[in-house]
Amino acid sequence: MSLLVFSVPLLPVVAVMTALFRSPLSALCRQVYSGILKLSHRKVCVSSTHAYVFSNCTHGQAQSVLLTFDLYSTTHASSNIGPQKGAFLDEIVTREAPLRVLELGTHCGYASVRILRLLPPSGKLLTVELDPLTADRGEEIILVAGFKNQQVLHHRFHSFQVLTCSSAEAISSLPSHTGNDGLDLVLMDHDPELYLQDLLALQRGNLLSTSCVVLINRALTPGAPDLLEYVTARPQSFSVGRQLHGLMEIRCHTGMSPQTHN
Ligand SMILES: C[S@@+](CC[C@H](N)C(=O)[O-])C[C@H]1O[C@@H](n2cnc3c(N)ncnc32)[C@H](O)[C@@H]1O
Repeated sequence: MSLLVFSVPLLPVVAVMTALFRSPLSALCRQVYSGILKLSHRKVCVSSTHAYVFSNCTHGQAQSVLLTFDLYSTTHASSNIGPQKGAFLDEIVTREAPLRVLELGTHCGYASVRILRLLPPSGKLLTVELDPLTADRGEEIILVAGFKNQQVLHHRFHSFQVLTCSSAEAISSLPSHTGNDGLDLVLMDHDPELYLQDLLALQRGNLLSTSCVVLINRALTPGAPDLLEYVTARPQSFSVGRQLHGLMEIRCHTGMSPQTHN
């Protein structure tokens, strides 16, 4: 069944949003709104989500882990991308068959499990989580879903690694994890205020493959207007693809260094 994905009116929406977000009052409102969202994300109890999934899923079965997360989300606040955006993510992972994937913002491992179950043989996921407790819980759920981490599998199939640090630290240490291989897919789901600086750092480090897909979550609310402005102003380097409920696909046509950003 094909997904209902909004694509055509996206550029005008981005332009209007960018203009709206430029006024000082809107910037203040956006900061307040983003602060409220961050607080509400903190309220999403990582330990209780983890405990529920851990005790109710069938261990070793990724699909059961995902369904258990989805069931939990029907009665509790949740920070993960959920089943609808998850299906959109699945479509992109299946289409791109990426060998190197970076996820910024692991949380409890929901999107990590979705990605890992569809990676081609020898595909690797590096997922980054700032909060140490959350990183531990996320890693445990990924293991419960049946995936092994890199050390255990000696760089073989479907391996993953959770890095407990900020997105900026992870990006600067990325070459030591991926070697010369560029990233084929990046999921930014950590902090929309950092999306642009992290994209620029990835470009500066030549860390993106020549036609890497960058997926940004919460692209419209609270939104990452600076990143959207940056990519829409550079149609030769980026094309904004589809978006579903704020999960937006951006294809980078070049893995080269960023153009000047003021
Ligand atoms: C919305 S949740 C991620 C959900 C996850 N991608 C999923 O769908 O299952 C955002 C996560 O990003 C983490 N985070 C926030 N800022 C970060 C940063 N600068 N670097 C790394 N992780 C960060 C938060 O601690 C939180 O766990």
